[in-house]
Amino acid sequence: MASELTVLIMAAGHGTRMRSSLPKVLHPICGRAMVLWVAEAAREAGATRVVCVTRPGEGVAETLDGRVEVVEQVEGEGTGAAVLAAREAIEGSDTVVVLSGDHPLISADAVRELVATHGREGAAATILTTEELDPDGYGRIVRSGDGAVARIVETKNPDGVPPDELAIREINGGTYAFEPRDLLDALEAVAEEHGERYLTGVVPLLCQRGRRVVPHLTRDTLSMFGINSRADLMEAEALARRALLRQHALAGVSFTSPDTVTIDAGVEIGEDTTVGPGVSLHGATRVGRGCTLGPQTTATDATLGDEVTVSHSVLVECAVADRATIGPFAYLRPGADIAEGAKVGTFVEIKNSRIGAGAKVPHLSYVGDADVGEEANLGASSITANYDGRKKHRTKIGKRAKTGIHTSLVAPVSVGDEAYTGAGSVISKDVPDGALGISRPPQKVIEGWATKDREPRE
Ligand code: UD1
Ligand code: CA
Repeated sequence: MASELTVLIMAAGHGTRMRSSLPKVLHPICGRAMVLWVAEAAREAGATRVVCVTRPGEGVAETLDGRVEVVEQVEGEGTGAAVLAAREAIEGSDTVVVLSGDHPLISADAVRELVATHGREGAAATILTTEELDPDGYGRIVRSGDGAVARIVETKNPDGVPPDELAIREINGGTYAFEPRDLLDALEAVAEEHGERYLTGVVPLLCQRGRRVVPHLTRDTLSMFGINSRADLMEAEALARRALLRQHALAGVSFTSPDTVTIDAGVEIGEDTTVGPGVSLHGATRVGRGCTLGPQTTATDATLGDEVTVSHSVLVECAVADRATIGPFAYLRPGADIAEGAKVGTFVEIKNSRIGAGAKVPHLSYVGDADVGEEANLGASSITANYDGRKKHRTKIGKRAKTGIHTSLVAPVSVGDEAYTGAGSVISKDVPDGALGISRPPQKVIEGWATKDREPRE
């Protein structure tokens, strides 16, 4: 293997067939921009330097956010022009690997194997190829008698491509290893076609100069899968999702209905957790061991401890500690912090609040900007009135406190440790420890009201 490995990622241009205002390589696969998948594979393959070619103003550099070097393609169109834009970055390196930003499922192994073949063959260029995909739209590999690559026939526009060349199954996967000097010299001489300078145009030129271009034939169809349209994107998403689920399954996670589950790259799930039907886990969500998730649960940037149970719920930027139970039909919003063994039940919404260990909010409540003490119990339909129309205020509920059903807590207000509130109360003054706060009009009883002298019933 070469001592220094520079990887160049071609990632400029919108990709007109995507029909999108978003540049192609920023479209997400399992929640992560395509170009980030490629950058990660490059790093994992042992690249000493990773350089990404983008166009100014497309937002790719911002997404890469300093993870790799960026050069701008300001002149010329086509993959050849993309490589020339990075001339300074590659000319001093031993070997340069060129990756396509629209092959998000490229594996580090594929890159390593390509580089190994390149070194072993002493080739000027080595190209990753396969015969296992539908070749439609890919460049076809035309081999010479000795098995080397003689040229690559582009078939994006198949009109005018001879039938025997269209019949070739072996395709160019857009992943190459090159000797930088040979590459740059040949690229200078590549003529433009349809206003583009094709990187693949270097192949016949290298052959003419007596340099060898060798194929590295692979069965790794994920690495070879390029994205030019949203239909391709949809297929890649399904392939990536399946691969991710498989990784989690091998790491000890059970999926009872894998075809209905969506998990973003980067989500962590502990051993012995069971993920049921209709579960979507996004962003930086982390799930502990022995949890039961689902059915129908969506979590985004949520942190769950061990043995947590969640069903039919939505969790966003919140934390749920060990053995807590959530749902069915709960909504945990940003800043919800549910302590160990707590219960958040049916039709309950919690925002920016701490629910103490073992506390229960079982039914029909809104808890916003509150601190609920351990083992407290909020009666059905306890609601914090946290907003006075101008400002948010906090509510404090003490340890082992119990609010009666239909308690309105008008913040700022506190209910002390082991205190109670009466059913139907509007609590706007603090209730001290151990006290009962009750605020409801005394009940009147009107005897014989039903038979009283009133208008007759219709
Ligand atoms: C290319 C190959 C084709 C191969 C296929 C594999 C060429 C001429 N053809 O075709 O043989 O089978 O990939 O998927 O290379 N890019 C730039 N700057 C540009 C143009 C493209 O950076 O000016 C980037 C794109 O962002 C993209 C990649 O290069 O990530 C490939 O470009 P694309 O236009 O998709 O090439 P294909 O037609 O798919
Ligand atoms: Ca492509």
